Amino acid sequence: MSIIEELKQIEGEVAQCQLCELHYSRKNAVPGEGPYNATIMFIGEGPGFYENEQGRPFVGAAGKFLEDLLEKIGMKREQVFITNVVKCRPPGNRDPKPEEVELCTKQFLERQIQLINPKVIITLGRYSMSLYVPHSKISDIHGQALRVKGRIIVPMYHPAAALHQGSLKPIIEADFLRLPDLLSKTPKVVEENLPASPTDSAQSASQLSLF
Ligand code: URA
Repeated sequence: MSIIEELKQIEGEVAQCQLCELHYSRKNAVPGEGPYNATIMFIGEGPGFYENEQGRPFVGAAGKFLEDLLEKIGMKREQVFITNVVKCRPPGNRDPKPEEVELCTKQFLERQIQLINPKVIITLGRYSMSLYVPHSKISDIHGQALRVKGRIIVPMYHPAAALHQGSLKPIIEADFLRLPDLLSKTPKVVEENLPASPTDSAQSASQLSLF
């Protein structure tokens, strides 16, 4: 199967998935979207109300803000791959449970990362950050490029958090403005260096090095 076929297959599996209880309440699963050879992959937390309605990631207010941030660095959302830790909306926007995160990332997100093989993964918020650096505080490491077992991760605040807490807005904007420079310095990650799974790499957080 080609990479494109495999990614399409994952999207089909997400749409049919019944592995956890989130499938009972979802309207649409949200596999993610963007070019299959994207340089940048954004990983949010999970679909919210509008994403569940439309089956697309980041289409509500946080998505609009994400688009504004991309525009500041001359990019459009169509140029990046956008997905989430969990692919179905947790009811009432509750936090995803650890077992939901575990199942969904093993089954889908890890495969998407391996196939898309982005130069840089930008984690949006606590949930996706903790796949890679579980014991860090976002206030300490936001905007920094971290190398975690061959992957380049840049943890950022969640755009929704910045919308709720205005003081975070200039911080996330500044973090975005540093991305073009980072991208120009980052070689495409070679396949041999890929972590077996984001959670495996979380265990070796001590191997992190800051750029
Ligand atoms: N927040 C997220 O984490 N993901 C979305 O897709 C939308 C809002």
